[in-house]
Amino acid sequence: MDAIDLLLGRVSPAQLAEPGPGAGQLEKILAAGARAPDHGRMQPWRFLLIEGNARERFGELMAQSLRRREPDAPAGKLDAERKKALRAPVIVVVAAAVKENPKVPEVEQIVAAGAACENMLLAAHALGFGGFWRTGPVAYDAEVKRALGFETSDSIVGIIYLGSIAVAGQPKPAETQAVTRRW
Ligand SMILES: Cc1cc2nc3c(=O)[nH]c(=O)nc-3n(C[C@H](O)[C@H](O)[C@H](O)COP(=O)(O)O)c2cc1C
Repeated sequence: MDAIDLLLGRVSPAQLAEPGPGAGQLEKILAAGARAPDHGRMQPWRFLLIEGNARERFGELMAQSLRRREPDAPAGKLDAERKKALRAPVIVVVAAAVKENPKVPEVEQIVAAGAACENMLLAAHALGFGGFWRTGPVAYDAEVKRALGFETSDSIVGIIYLGSIAVAGQPKPAETQAVTRRW
């Protein structure tokens, strides 16, 4: 696929399904993430793979996080939260592990980790898979970070769901006029 068509054609799918990317494909997707622009070669990104049964443990973490935020959440809502982890065969949690650096402020390390997320989505798209980017309150929950083995000072910048496209998303035109000006 032409690279520009690839960039303009990426869209979040409405629904993902098995199979997910295989080991070699996943390696390429992660490598694309790790080729994101990175001021000072700090490699601020950290990738956590959640596949198979580990997704159920992740779903449980998400439900516990919701229960902490909403102690009276009904069982159905907690269950829906739990099931979010089963929306895709492969989940990559992307965090920025920010380090003090006189030339590379925190914001640059965080956007580099964000660029890694987009590179992964594009690589998945190039390989014929779909992916969508999520965060939500769970990403900012210190207990969740701890349970996933991150430092609480790390920033979870993306929960990337990857799989085969079961229901395609609606392609949206790229709108540049309202956000671009010449100076
Ligand atoms: C940092 C970040 C976090 C996001 N978190 C969520 C989220 O938690 N829930 C959601 O519905 N969309 C979230 N999105 C937006 C979707 O991933 C997606 O980009 C948006 O729905 C537009 O669809 P598109 O990717 O097809 O253009 C997030 C996007 C970014 C960049």
